[in-house]
Amino acid sequence: MLQVRNVSKNFGGVQAVDNVSFDVGTDEIHGLIGPNGAGKTTMINLISGLLVLSSGEIEVDGVAIHTLPAEKRARLGVARTFQNLRLFKNLTVRQNIDIGKIHSRGVQKDGDDLVNDAIDRFGLRDTMAQTPDSLPYGQMRRLEIVRALALRPKVLMLDEPAAGMNPEETDDLFHNLMWLRERHPCAIVLIEHDLKFIMTACDRLTVMNMGGLLASGTPAEITANQEVIDAYLGH
Ligand SMILES: Nc1ncnc2c1ncn2[C@@H]1O[C@H](COP(=O)(O)OP(=O)(O)OP(=O)(O)O)[C@@H](O)[C@H]1O
Ligand SMILES: [Mg+2]
Repeated sequence: MLQVRNVSKNFGGVQAVDNVSFDVGTDEIHGLIGPNGAGKTTMINLISGLLVLSSGEIEVDGVAIHTLPAEKRARLGVARTFQNLRLFKNLTVRQNIDIGKIHSRGVQKDGDDLVNDAIDRFGLRDTMAQTPDSLPYGQMRRLEIVRALALRPKVLMLDEPAAGMNPEETDDLFHNLMWLRERHPCAIVLIEHDLKFIMTACDRLTVMNMGGLLASGTPAEITANQEVIDAYLGH
């Protein structure tokens, strides 16, 4: 569903992403991990179209998207959340979710089933008339995910969704992702530093380090990889 091929991005002299390739199938949860500054968020920005790549190709469902503006990519089903939350503070929770629907593929009916189910599943039903800044932090993070789901994504990219969550909220998030995989199969890219969470949630992982691709494989392969242990996981 998602193919990233030989993608590079430099900011002046900084090589933020250096010739990285990976692919993610429908129904796959694919982890993107690595130390701070490895280039993970930049990669998501390149896929979603917030940044233009320096070289390489990106395909979603067989369509080359890397030259399209961000809103066209969204319409094709490329959705993401932000490492630093980007909610619309002056809109209600309901309106924040509806913004996602407006940008989605085709005409959306009110009460789209997936969004409705997700509102309940992610525990937002009682907050619909509130503004986001009245919500606890974990709820804001969940709202970003539901807003992304309103695009009915083919590719869903989550940038540190468990950051700032307590263990109970992280556990909920894990179960919600498992629910989502059944309810709306899509290619999920998951950036996280919570290793227990990422190793249990992901089917496969891509490890980045200093912009480059360090390793890729299953959680078992990655945890046993000496280069990954040295660069990121530690002993
Ligand atoms: N807009 C930008 N302009 C200049 N340099 C940037 C820009 N965005 C990112 N960088 C640089 O690119 C590199 C990769 O940053 P990025 O945010 O992608 O890392 P990350 O893997 O997401 O790290 P973290 O785990 O801390 O979120 C860093 O050196 C960063 O300073
Ligand atoms: Mg980041």
